[in-house]
Amino acid sequence: MIQLILIKNGTLVSSSGTRAADILIDGQRIVAVEDAIDLHSQSQIQNLQSIDASGLLVFPGLIDVHTHMRQPGGEQKEDFYTGTCAALAGGVTTVFAMPNTSPAIIDRATLDLVLELAQHNAVCDYGVFIGATNTNQHLKLNNPDLRECGLKMYMGSSTGDLLVEDFGPQYEHFLHYPHERVIAVHAEHEPAVRYFGQHGERRPHICAEVEVARVVALAERCNRHVHVCHVSSRREVEIIGDAKARGVPVTCEFAPHYLFLTTEKEQGTTDAGEPSSYYQMNPPLRAGDDLATLWANLDVADCIATDHAPHTPEEKHSAKPPSGVPGLETMLALLMTAAHDGRLTLGDIARLCCEGPAQTFNIAAKGRIAPGFDADITLVDPNELWVIGSKPLFTKCGWTPFEGWPVRGAVKQTFVRGRLAFDNGAVVAARGSGRRVEN
Ligand code: DOR
Ligand code: ZN
Ligand code: ZN
Repeated sequence: MIQLILIKNGTLVSSSGTRAADILIDGQRIVAVEDAIDLHSQSQIQNLQSIDASGLLVFPGLIDVHTHMRQPGGEQKEDFYTGTCAALAGGVTTVFAMPNTSPAIIDRATLDLVLELAQHNAVCDYGVFIGATNTNQHLKLNNPDLRECGLKMYMGSSTGDLLVEDFGPQYEHFLHYPHERVIAVHAEHEPAVRYFGQHGERRPHICAEVEVARVVALAERCNRHVHVCHVSSRREVEIIGDAKARGVPVTCEFAPHYLFLTTEKEQGTTDAGEPSSYYQMNPPLRAGDDLATLWANLDVADCIATDHAPHTPEEKHSAKPPSGVPGLETMLALLMTAAHDGRLTLGDIARLCCEGPAQTFNIAAKGRIAPGFDADITLVDPNELWVIGSKPLFTKCGWTPFEGWPVRGAVKQTFVRGRLAFDNGAVVAARGSGRRVEN
């Protein structure tokens, strides 16, 4: 028996703003969006579940194109189950997982292994990136049916051992990876990272500026789409904005930590009294004027993505702490709070967290609330005030860099393809109910 769900009296959010409307879901898909939907036929009513969304905002399920699920090899930090539970709690219904695992995802065998782990464990939909190496530039040519969501290239080193720093293999990847697919890049110039490291400076912003300039030159020369991950500094924004204006096929994502935290956080302890390594990430946090430039140029961003990069407290307390912070459970609340403060609009959130990611990565059936689209839906109470850290976290690492922050806006329910997956604080989706996204 097909289950019909009617979400009534909610306020739908899209890039063009808000609208009061009802949504009818038939199975996994949205079938109608109208000002008011009333069902009269008896046969329909028998299978109908009605949800009253009065006072709630109705977002398309958020799509986070940059997460680290840590499977395989980092299961002490996260796995596909805990990571996607965190996603649902944050209103995210699709995650793309990065390939810097152990072993890294760099060929058909490792990709198939990780897709199987995801298939058995994920509670939201997912994609998995394959990682570029110095020798796998013909990977897709040799395996046209690989089921990766895109190619990730670490042009600078970060967690794990994936790195393509030399011009030759970088250029060959840009040339050979199918041009209708996306190459996502970690753009920090490795020789500069090394140089400054030797001189006691951790990844100053010129490292990112130099590599983003090279990315733009390569994208232009090869006339291919390149997606710049986690833009953090003023010059990067200017370089990408200028490239876009000239028609270079480059897109980019901003990450919440660069929008809400500045480098001063790296001195002393965190708001929760933890060591500053809790704020250590690649690229590092930037200065206030960088942050201001990001906020002033949200139109340059195609997506906001968390770069959810969990590490355990023990690892963060160690002598050589790893870089990265978790973010899936806090992104929407932080953005809702910023929207309340007038720093962006609800429409911006829908553009940057739903429609933009779908467009950037060619995910046809997601990112919008419209007939024919997957019924990925996030219900948010825009007025609920809460303090980050006061609710239990689903991420296995168990901490957040935003501990203690008062926020406004809480995820109440999350639906994935028509199924209630997160319900008022509890994950109700079955392990393995997430599906691979085709893009
Ligand atoms: O801080 C970071 N952490 N930056 C990255 O590029 C990788 C990530 C991780 O995987 O821990
Ligand atoms: Zn990165
Ligand atoms: Zn990352």
